Amino acid sequence: MELLEALSTRISARAFLDTPVPRGVVREIIELASQAPSGSNMQPWQIHAVAGDTRRQLIEKALSYAEKHPIGATRSEYQSAPEHFVKPYKSRRFACGMALYTALGIDRKDKAARAQQLLRNFYFFDAPVGLIFSIHRCLMPGQLGDLGILMANVMLAAREFGLHTCAQGFWQDVRPAIHEVLDIPEEYYIYNGMALGHIDENAAANQVKPGREPVDSFTHFLGF
Ligand SMILES: Cc1cc2nc3c(=O)[nH]c(=O)nc-3n(C[C@H](O)[C@H](O)[C@H](O)COP(=O)(O)O)c2cc1C
Repeated sequence: MELLEALSTRISARAFLDTPVPRGVVREIIELASQAPSGSNMQPWQIHAVAGDTRRQLIEKALSYAEKHPIGATRSEYQSAPEHFVKPYKSRRFACGMALYTALGIDRKDKAARAQQLLRNFYFFDAPVGLIFSIHRCLMPGQLGDLGILMANVMLAAREFGLHTCAQGFWQDVRPAIHEVLDIPEEYYIYNGMALGHIDENAAANQVKPGREPVDSFTHFLGF
């Protein structure tokens, strides 16, 4: 697949088929993605790729942790929502959530249905493979951008194999469960999860196509 096609067909998929993804394919995706640049080539990343029983155990623990610690209740060290979003981020964030709930037929006021949808994150939206990205705490927050670049590479490399992804910040909310099940030492900061698998093209959740602001609204061309 050409890069342009990968860029233009990548979406955040939120419903997957149960078609397995072989370990070798996951490995190839990660190998390609690891060509990502990083500050001083420190390659400040760890990936835990989970499938099968480990994935099931992680889901179980995450759900039971989320039951006792409601999503959003735990302040994250680096990624808590700001107390006051400034424009235009608040409205964009709101529009993003609304687009998904509208596609799913969930009423904005239906808190229970919204909470149920949030919990879908911890099933990796049914994707057979979950990826957990972490970084050594001594590199935080400076090298977080490097990890973001790696994640973007994973998303694009996945397209080469006909696969889709969804980055999942929500895994932050159940970090203790991840540390426990995957035996990740405390000195690693768990940044994000990612669902990886074959998209369910027809699922309502995958009909959301969030737009983007025009280039000239955020790019300042100077000296051309
Ligand atoms: C770092 C990061 C974390 C994200 N976390 C979540 C998440 O927890 N759950 C979710 O459904 N989508 C999550 N997303 C997906 C974004 O909502 C999505 O990228 C955005 O709405 C743009 O849509 P698109 O990726 O389909 O173009 C995340 C994306 C990024 C880059």
